[in-house]
Amino acid sequence: MALDVRENISLKEYTTFKTGGVARYFVEVKTEEEVIEAGHFAKQNDLPLLIICGGSNLLVSDEGFAGLVMINSLKGSKYLEGEDDSVLLEVASGEVFDEVVAESVSRGYWGLENLSAIPGTVGATPVQNVGAYGCEIGDLILQVEAINLYTNNKKIFTNSQCKFGYRESIFKTEEGNNFFITKVFLKLSKEVSPKLSYADLKKQFVDYIPTLPEIRNSIIVIRSKKFPDWKVVGTAGSFFKNPIITSKQADELLAVYPEVPVYHTGAGMVKIPLGYLLDKVCGLKGYRQGKVGLYKEQALVLVNYGDATTNEIKNFANEISEIVFAKTKINISPEVRFIEKL
Ligand code: EPU
Repeated sequence: MALDVRENISLKEYTTFKTGGVARYFVEVKTEEEVIEAGHFAKQNDLPLLIICGGSNLLVSDEGFAGLVMINSLKGSKYLEGEDDSVLLEVASGEVFDEVVAESVSRGYWGLENLSAIPGTVGATPVQNVGAYGCEIGDLILQVEAINLYTNNKKIFTNSQCKFGYRESIFKTEEGNNFFITKVFLKLSKEVSPKLSYADLKKQFVDYIPTLPEIRNSIIVIRSKKFPDWKVVGTAGSFFKNPIITSKQADELLAVYPEVPVYHTGAGMVKIPLGYLLDKVCGLKGYRQGKVGLYKEQALVLVNYGDATTNEIKNFANEISEIVFAKTKINISPEVRFIEKL
């Protein structure tokens, strides 16, 4: 069937920030053949490509995107129980991630439960190495299958080839940029293995081993207190990354603000919770300029309270970065990906 390429489609409905201009060309891909066809179309017309997998981490320019936007609607999943307790989950990249988490929990398979209630689709999770409550998707990924949109070749990326780091992977670099992720292979387990290291979670289950549904429900409750409902307001979760600084910089920070929590990440580097700096050091929790603000329950979350533009959000984010730098001498960077018109 011919590819249904549409023109000048507003991207507001396709990102959780609910901002941005139009896509010059737009196509929803439901099969791997359509992924390849869409790649051809982009090559023939010399168009840049943007793949949207739920749009929960994107900030699209008000001028729109002058290329081809591909909405990922590849569906399907398969569970394969091993002879030991292991379970292999093969899942298409366009599946809604939280529906996959819910299903794995209801089947009694451990692994994804701490990642409950994260918006977006499966294909976005390796790109960002999505993480929450002591678990990163990169800890569970065995391999990622992807199509190179310029050569049409399929490639399997092993876990180590994905080069996972804190909110980082090969798919965020130039090397991995040309790939359309089609499937993700995850290693789950039937063995009871709760991950309760995260303080918010640990305190709920003292001297008690929770069940899978109890952990999922508990995470859903914790998140609902910290994050606004992205179906109601515009948001992309954490707007910035937690900065990772040298121990020397951390010592300088602690000399002025001794209460700041610090997490040693190895190799003399220290991760600082930016939410804490924004809230307790800069007094910015709930700070608002017009239609844009930092959420009243979690300062790392930036919210579009009305019909703010992308420019308004960017200006606000720049102002926040400047305040943080003035107070702490730390440069912060966005976790959210900015999409320019090109
Ligand atoms: N804090 C404050 N005030 C705030 C926000 C946080 O004092 O307004 C303090 C908290 O008390 C805690 C620390 O800062 O001591 C860290 O806060 P929290 O546990 O809420 O987590 P976070 O570092 O702000 C990260 C991820 C989230 C993830 C949570 C839970 C990043 C950029 N964000 O947030 O991921 O859900 O941990 O694991 O790493 C996302 O990436 O979009 C995201 C939501």
